[in-house]
Amino acid sequence: MNKLDSQLVTDALLAEGFELTGNPEEADVILFNTCSVRKHAEDRVFSNVGALKHLKRRRPEVVIGIIGCMAQRAAGEIKRRLPHVDIICGPQDLPALPRLITGHSGDSATVVATEGSEIWPERMRDTRISPASTFVSAMRGCNRFCSYCIVPYVRGRTRSRMLEDIVREAGELVAGGAREITLLGQDVNAYKDEKGRRLWDVLGELAGIEGLGRLWFVTSHPATVERQLFEMMAEHPVIAPYLHLPAQSGSNRVLEAMKRGYTRSRYLEIIKEARAIVPGIEIASDFIVGFPGETDRDFHMTVDLFWRAKFQNCFVFKYSPRPGARSAKMDDDVPVEKKKERNAILLSIQKEIMEERHKELEGAKFEVLVRGVSKRDASKLTGRTRTNRIVVFEGGESLAGRFVEVAVDSSTPLTLFGHIAGEPY
Ligand code: 5AD
Ligand code: SF4
Repeated sequence: MNKLDSQLVTDALLAEGFELTGNPEEADVILFNTCSVRKHAEDRVFSNVGALKHLKRRRPEVVIGIIGCMAQRAAGEIKRRLPHVDIICGPQDLPALPRLITGHSGDSATVVATEGSEIWPERMRDTRISPASTFVSAMRGCNRFCSYCIVPYVRGRTRSRMLEDIVREAGELVAGGAREITLLGQDVNAYKDEKGRRLWDVLGELAGIEGLGRLWFVTSHPATVERQLFEMMAEHPVIAPYLHLPAQSGSNRVLEAMKRGYTRSRYLEIIKEARAIVPGIEIASDFIVGFPGETDRDFHMTVDLFWRAKFQNCFVFKYSPRPGARSAKMDDDVPVEKKKERNAILLSIQKEIMEERHKELEGAKFEVLVRGVSKRDASKLTGRTRTNRIVVFEGGESLAGRFVEVAVDSSTPLTLFGHIAGEPY
């Protein structure tokens, strides 16, 4: 969602006549789009923006802005700790940002926009030239209030876009060059527009867009996911058979304290149902270790779930109390060392599972949608399989946005390496 918001803001500023630069020394405006989900992300913003103090002293006309969730959560703290910041703009106020920037002289007082506007930031989008892989928002905000999570407070309540608006935007993006679209929502299964249409209705409509090669959607919540979704996925091969379904914990006691609204057996039942209905589906998950009160026994239940579920991929996070979220009132009693240890255990299990799985895939061929040049090795391309496995192979940059057949020669736990074995299409 933050990547999409950055794109929307960029589009809006380009429309105002601005140009992009990667060099802060050259910039008239410097924006930081921020995340509040964990403290670490916020600490980095304080230090990165802090480092611009001297630049601002030399060139007071430069407008520095902090936008996104941290702007919403910590506007007061930002003003106090980073007095050289000119604009503080929350995620629900992004439509006002271009006006705030053009109206700011650089040495006028700090402007704070955190009231929340009802205008969709999607209006800022320029769909005429689209990257091969792009995002479309289906809904914004979240009503679930998981006890550890800051999102409902900073991004507000759930608002679903009208199905027609989503389909129109996606159609324009595909006409502008997009091959792959990721439909976004913090709790995307809760999507319901004014006419009562649901996520699977949107996916079904999008699947019909000619030229669209692949369709993803994130993030699915286990308490809101429904059978119709899996049936729609099975019906349309363009919908990637990939489900990001964060479990957060394998212990019922912890799930209850997190206010997640499902049990471990319900979670396992959902992925069993998904696998029965959608051919070849892979499941990915998020976990939080060291939630207040998490005992060795609770953690053991998470490890057990890990082995049973056999995830395609997992993101593991150390619990970080977020002021404003309900769990911040609980005692953060799992020592940092314990959190680190549990984090390392889950990651090593995941590595073992992926290593084994990837070894089995050596020799197989995959339909890969090329995303572009590999960040690690500029002579290679990188792309994704239908189940979101990362594939690296040799080829020219002009293949970005095309499908190629890739035969896998070798692997690591995170990546498949191969060579092109067929004409691009
Ligand atoms: N501490 C640690 N991890 C968190 N997440 C959300 N809130 C917190 C927190 N307070 C994780 C969850 C979520 C992912 C985006 O970030 O696992 O799925
Ligand atoms: Fe946060 Fe829970 Fe909403 Fe996800 S579903 S954004 S974890 S409150």
